[in-house]
Amino acid sequence: MSKQQDTSKLWGGRFSEPTDSFVQRFTASVDFDQRMAAEDIAGSLAHANMLCAVGVLSEDELGQIQAGLATVQREIDDGTFAWSVELEDVHMNIEARLTELIGVTGKKLHTGRSRNDQVATDIRLYLRAAIDQIATELTRLQEGTIALAAENTDTIMPGFTHLQTAQPVSFGHHLLAWNEMLERDHGRLMDCRARMNQSPLGAAALAGTTYPIDREQTAAALGFDKPTENSLDSVSDRDFAIEFCAFASLLMTHLSRMSEELVIWTSAQFNFIELPDRFCTGSSIMPQKKNPDVPELVRGKVGRVNGHLISLLTLMKSQPLAYNKDNQEDKEPLFDTVDTVLDCLRAFADMVPAIKPRAQQMREAARSGFSTATDLADYLVGLGLPFRDAHEVVGKAVAHGVETGLDLAEMELATLQGFCPDIGEDVFEVLTLEGSISARDHLGGTAPNQVAAAARRARERLQSR
Ligand code: ARG
Repeated sequence: MSKQQDTSKLWGGRFSEPTDSFVQRFTASVDFDQRMAAEDIAGSLAHANMLCAVGVLSEDELGQIQAGLATVQREIDDGTFAWSVELEDVHMNIEARLTELIGVTGKKLHTGRSRNDQVATDIRLYLRAAIDQIATELTRLQEGTIALAAENTDTIMPGFTHLQTAQPVSFGHHLLAWNEMLERDHGRLMDCRARMNQSPLGAAALAGTTYPIDREQTAAALGFDKPTENSLDSVSDRDFAIEFCAFASLLMTHLSRMSEELVIWTSAQFNFIELPDRFCTGSSIMPQKKNPDVPELVRGKVGRVNGHLISLLTLMKSQPLAYNKDNQEDKEPLFDTVDTVLDCLRAFADMVPAIKPRAQQMREAARSGFSTATDLADYLVGLGLPFRDAHEVVGKAVAHGVETGLDLAEMELATLQGFCPDIGEDVFEVLTLEGSISARDHLGGTAPNQVAAAARRARERLQSR
């Protein structure tokens, strides 16, 4: 007997004609949800074990189901499993094959269960494993970022506001700012995991089941912290998928900001860093080109990830309780978000440690934009001027510099004294780039010793994960 004849579907009893072939294709999810096959089998094993423990299945039946599911898993692994669109989704494909393999006992597996709690369980198991993989890649990226920062605590670059030279900072300080963004991303990811890690299994279709099931047992067997509280909510809730996509959007936003900076820094006009050739490509027409494709592509991928978040929010908006077929649409956005985030993190985790800073270029750039003007104002405040007056004096000195092409540190003492007679020889200490960054010597500041300490703390946070 073929497993998909006429009205022989798993709900065949009620139907008098077969499903329209287009409708069959239109309503099927097997093409994409077969990705959750391992989770589906794990859930079925936990469910069958529990049914046996509470006396709904015999030991012998449990043994048959275990052996049959092991065969199914093997067939899937070696690519011989015959996925069928007529069987709609991963759940029915596996169950039908099990029944084909072990006979009538296969039909008992679905006792006290529905595809509604089954799919809710599968997605959570799938996403939990994905989250753990993503957390590993995120940690690897942070390790690389912190290590590069620790090597560059006194590599001076211009810090920017409005993308105009503002004040000197160290390259290490800049990298540790990236790390703070990533640290918050990791925190959000762990929050999402913790809220998600509850077992919906046992909610059945929506109202629970008449069998004496043990939800604590299946929850524990599947590594969930506990069973969910409410059966209606269990089969309808997709908050965890939305939360995950919100995490992903924010992470990708951060990666896009880093990407943008890498693209700017690798331009000939900035020339702050070099990316190894293996992360770049050339141009088919312009021989001189070395394009930062990897950061550009990561920057571009934010679009689809943001799109998936909006897809899921819109999918769930106004849905009445409990399960609705709409929810089948949760998977593709979620899966693509997982794939995209993993790829982008991998690219970044490989690339960041390979960044070669051009210290001399960064230093030149920091010297040329009057980046120590605030330091001069602070020096004048030290001489007793109110800050607003000091600001005015320095503004005039900068205007003179713009006219003459001289940086503040390059002016004669007498010239500076023309703006404020109390200025002494010691002014040149504060006008140097090193003096400027070293003076910002407090928690969160860019002084090299502070950056080194911040890198140490950042590393300790990673180690305590
Ligand atoms: N393929 C379905 C999904 O992805 C499984 C649940 C189907 N449940 C139902 N009552 N039709 O959501």
